[in-house]
Amino acid sequence: PYVVTENCIRCLYMDCVSVCPVDCFRKGEAMLVIHPDACIDCGVCEPACPAQAIRRDDDRDGTRWLAFNARFAEEWPRICEKGKPPGDADDWRGRSGKSAMVFG
Ligand code: SF4
Ligand code: F3S
Repeated sequence: PYVVTENCIRCLYMDCVSVCPVDCFRKGEAMLVIHPDACIDCGVCEPACPAQAIRRDDDRDGTRWLAFNARFAEEWPRICEKGKPPGDADDWRGRSGKSAMVFG
C-alpha cells in the first residue's frame, strides 16, 4: 500500500482525499494516514500531494511509517472530502523534525 509520512504533519493539504477512489484516508489532528488494508495501490494520491508526503510502503520512508499508518487508521475517522488546510500549512512544508515536535 501507500502510506502518509512526516511531510504531511501540519500541512494537511488534503488533495490526496479528493483523488482516492476508495476513501482510505483517515484524519488525525495534525496529519492524515492511509488505511493500509483499504489501499488498492493505485498510486494516484502520490503525485497529488503538494508536500510529497505520500510514499509506497516499500520506499525507505514508507517502510518507516507503515506501522504508524496501520495503527492510527484504526483510531482516526475516515475522511472522504477535502477540507480546508491550516492557514499556516505552507510554513510547515518540508520542515524536518515535525514528527518529534508533534508526536514526541
Ligand atoms: Fe487511495 Fe490509491 Fe492512494 Fe491507496 S494509492 S491511498 S487507493 S489513492
Ligand atoms: Fe497530507 Fe499531502 Fe494529503 S499534505 S493531507 S498527504 S495531500
